Amino acid sequence: MIEFRSVAKRFPDGTVAVDDFSLVLPSRQTTVFVGSSGCGKTTLLRMINRMVEPSSGEVEIDGESVLGKDPVALRRSIGYVMQNSGLMPHFTVIDNVATVLRLVGVQKRAAHERARELLEVVGLDLALADRYPSQLSGGQQQRVGVARGLAADPNILLMDEPFGAVDPIVRADLQQELIRLQRDLDKTVVFVTHDIDEAFLLGDQVVILDKGARVIQVGSPSEIIDNPADEFVSAFIGVERGRRALRIKETPHGRVLVDSEGRTQGALVEDGG
Ligand SMILES: Nc1ncnc2c1ncn2[C@@H]1O[C@H](COP(=O)(O)OP(=O)(O)O)[C@@H](O)[C@H]1O
Ligand SMILES: [Mg+2]
Repeated sequence: MIEFRSVAKRFPDGTVAVDDFSLVLPSRQTTVFVGSSGCGKTTLLRMINRMVEPSSGEVEIDGESVLGKDPVALRRSIGYVMQNSGLMPHFTVIDNVATVLRLVGVQKRAAHERARELLEVVGLDLALADRYPSQLSGGQQQRVGVARGLAADPNILLMDEPFGAVDPIVRADLQQELIRLQRDLDKTVVFVTHDIDEAFLLGDQVVILDKGARVIQVGSPSEIIDNPADEFVSAFIGVERGRRALRIKETPHGRVLVDSEGRTQGALVEDGG
């Protein structure tokens, strides 16, 4: 479990990126921070692995403050998938992944073997292993980024808008891949996005943030959709636009759910059936 206790971050230029943030992130679940650009999501994420130090307050992992841990060891023990993949351009794909393993003491040969396995885990064609990042598509680069994040077999995986830069179809593919991975791997995932649909799709716990990382609402996706905290949340999740207002339509093959534009969203099945 990760716990933020009254955490604040004021940067030297006076910007208050995080005002006063407290939250428990349960182990082996996905918590998603969602909010507009500049609201403090990346800053929150980076305070978990001490890439940013809080101005006040504490971040704890399993009851121990991260401030008492060696920052380098801490960073190596936590997976981090950056916005724009963060791959090293002069390293091949396989070396990008293997390097992480080498840093935690795995021998060269074993590191390469494990790196290949990881590329398979994230669904990357092994024929691409010897290419350089610039020779991959955006979606392929993100897969390598995820493989890198998983390399040291961390209990905690931080993901900062990892699918932000890819087209919607590839993005949907990567999202499904992450859901599958999470089922198998059981990590504590902290995921950042500005896309509320992505937040609801991936999050066990969704945290809607305003400027200064002020918490507007925390809950499971259905808790938030069923009971939005205020008009900001309603607008954000599209209730006002009726985007999520589904209705039932009778068809020759049974009842289906359609959205406000008449597009079929799914079949209606009996509860418990
Ligand atoms: N190193 C920094 N120095 C000064 N201000 C910063 C720094 N990093 C981020 N900020 C500011 O802090 C606020 C939150 O930034 P960030 O956490 O990156 O937001 P988000 O990830 O939600 O877009 C923004 O106003 C940003 O400009
Ligand atoms: Mg950010």
